[in-house]
Amino acid sequence: MIQIAGLSARIAGRLLIENASVTLPAGTKAGLVGRNGAGKSTLFRVITGELSAEAGSVSLPKNARIGQVAQEAPGTEEPLIEIVLKADKERTALIAEAETATDPHRIADIQTRLADIGAHSAEARAASILAGLGFDHEAQRRPASSFSGGWRMRVALAAVLFSEPDLLLLDEPTNYLDLEGTLWLEDYIRRYPHTVIIISHDRDLLNTAVNAIVHLDQKKLTFYRGSYDQFERQKAEADELQMKAKAKNEAARKHLQSFIDRFKAKASKARQAQSRVKALERMGTVAAVIEEHVQGFSFPDPEKQVASPIVAIQGGAVGYEPGKPILKRLNLRIDADDRIALLGSNGNGKSTFAKFISGRLQAEAGDVRIAPGLKIGFFAQHQLDDLVPTQSAVEHVRRRMADAPEAKVRSRVAQMGLATEKMDTAAKDLSGGEKARLLMGLAAFDAPNLLILDEPTNHLDIDSRNALITALNAIPVQSSSSRTTGI
Ligand SMILES: Nc1ncnc2c1ncn2[C@@H]1O[C@H](COP(=O)(O)OP(=O)(O)OP(=O)(O)O)[C@@H](O)[C@H]1O
Ligand SMILES: [Mg+2]
Repeated sequence: MIQIAGLSARIAGRLLIENASVTLPAGTKAGLVGRNGAGKSTLFRVITGELSAEAGSVSLPKNARIGQVAQEAPGTEEPLIEIVLKADKERTALIAEAETATDPHRIADIQTRLADIGAHSAEARAASILAGLGFDHEAQRRPASSFSGGWRMRVALAAVLFSEPDLLLLDEPTNYLDLEGTLWLEDYIRRYPHTVIIISHDRDLLNTAVNAIVHLDQKKLTFYRGSYDQFERQKAEADELQMKAKAKNEAARKHLQSFIDRFKAKASKARQAQSRVKALERMGTVAAVIEEHVQGFSFPDPEKQVASPIVAIQGGAVGYEPGKPILKRLNLRIDADDRIALLGSNGNGKSTFAKFISGRLQAEAGDVRIAPGLKIGFFAQHQLDDLVPTQSAVEHVRRRMADAPEAKVRSRVAQMGLATEKMDTAAKDLSGGEKARLLMGLAAFDAPNLLILDEPTNHLDIDSRNALITALNAIPVQSSSSRTTGI
């Protein structure tokens, strides 16, 4: 059980959470939802105590353990299975003690405790979690250092799941999982024996894995029982009721006011008018439903059209090490106006293909023809490294339009969906969704003829995902030679 009471939190002078309260009964599986930049990740930092609240409290039962995925999964030489097993601190300590203990009573105690915490089945449990997240038996025994960052995040996730904290905090875990891993995690969360709060923008996950939604909106937290669809319905109904109440309230106020205006000067009715003034005061007003506008995406039209085929590949091979191609015998042709979805299970080389087409990887073999003058825009999550962490969105954009006046630069940043108060925030401090918006804006900056998007919806909130779909559909066919390749 976790109880948040009267919580206020501020970051860089901005109040993100104001006098918010919510209680989650033990065992709740809650989806924490809200717009990009609303403060969801910040709320996690307050819950773990990493960030102190300005007011209010977060209370948990005594000795409750909170677990969250480490930012950086270790890149050590240890085998994955060992890393995961070590996440259960108590078991690790007991086993270490058992090896050196000499007192027979203590040894007996240790063995009893080990049995109680299911230590003997620990390895099987750790292995089954790793397998669920995509590591086969052989991979589980390889050192962490041999895996890429994305795969190491999965190891970190496996470790926290294995340690089975009383309160499990997950911040958009599906961003580094493939479909199979996501489905496995959904099932795992559903059956998790303790409380879970999961930040997610994934409607499917929110409809299958959780039994409550906590909505962070207008700096407040609201608890809804049920799945995401049920939340949306309840929210829509509540908004409608509020709108009706507001209309009714306004009509009643208007009626009273007109009576007052008509009769306040008349001696015979002055008392009645006076009592209506009081009634009006007592009545109060009903707050309006605040619909936050979500900024759309805009993909500028390319200046010059390029004749088809814009990309033609014969017998192409590409990889990261000479002689070890990831993809080979590639034969394909991309025309102006193609809209291509690239599908394939994890590790099949989709991102490699995207990097190849965008010119970030050179062909090892084959004939690759790119139409002259073709401008390519490339967006990928893993490209977060392309941002200069200490520079703001304004600084990133200014570099691309050095001679433009400041107002132009800022209006370009605003078009990307970053509000005034976030324009000067260093990239490293932007929220996940804000960073994605900035990267997307930079990818489309030069009005590319071919736009390659590698998992563009990761990090975007649900309304922004819809806005992205609308913008992609609005890219004109024929009249310009914009291309969209979604991966
Ligand atoms: N150190 C910081 N300095 C300035 N602003 C910050 C800092 N850290 C966070 N912010 C801002 O606080 C706001 C909330 O960030 P947070 O990461 O909590 O959002 P979020 O709800 O998790 O969003 P997303 O869905 O995009 O992940 C954002 O607008 C972000 O830019
Ligand atoms: Mg976040």
